[in-house]
Amino acid sequence: MWGRAEEILRVLPFFLIVSFPMLQKDYCLRPMTEDDLDKVMHIELRAFPAPWTVLAYALELRHNKDAFYMVLETKQEGIVGYIGVWCIDEVSQIVRVAVGKEHRRQGWAARLLEKATHIAVGKGAQVVTLEVRESNAAAIAFYESQGFSPIDRIKGFYTNPDEDAICLLKTLSMSS
Ligand SMILES: CC(C)(COP(=O)(O)OP(=O)(O)OC[C@H]1O[C@@H](n2cnc3c(N)ncnc32)[C@H](O)[C@@H]1OP(=O)(O)O)[C@@H](O)C(=O)NCCC(=O)NCCS
Repeated sequence: MWGRAEEILRVLPFFLIVSFPMLQKDYCLRPMTEDDLDKVMHIELRAFPAPWTVLAYALELRHNKDAFYMVLETKQEGIVGYIGVWCIDEVSQIVRVAVGKEHRRQGWAARLLEKATHIAVGKGAQVVTLEVRESNAAAIAFYESQGFSPIDRIKGFYTNPDEDAICLLKTLSMSS
């Protein structure tokens, strides 16, 4: 009996590390600064058909007092993703989220969204909304996995290429 328990305790850490890749890595979530923009742009240019410019990010960071941008970095790989949220009264809006291609499906975007939601709740938000290209199945699946529901479609919202937007919404609770 004790022999079996000891055996399980011996292999448990190995099992956890293999099953949950995130446990292999130390990471931190912190506010984005202009010094991060080279690395952010490296991800941005590969993640979006119509990427924001470095100037757009710099202006957001300098002047938009309602905006909060966070980066997630690991000890091993540096910045692997980032998120931006605007918090205006009870409504918050996710304006950007991206994870480097080689780092996807490891739970990083979920961590980023959790942090952005926490910030939004702290600023008094009751709902969080966003728009996504209708063809962006990965992002829609991601948001739905995080409790968002589609509420509207905006015709021709996007250009380059022209496309409708799907609007998604999640109602926040104090424990979000
Ligand atoms: C959308 C995006 C941010 C997701 O990042 P990610 O770090 O891979 O997401 P996570 O690992 O946190 O995924 C959490 C869950 O979301 C869902 N999900 C994420 N990507 C998915 C995909 N490609 N297909 C299906 N479901 C997906 C899954 O349920 C996943 O859990 P699982 O891996 O245990 O199955 C990433 O694909 C990306 O950067 N895309 C390009 C930029 C973009 O489209 N941003 C959103 C614009 S609105």
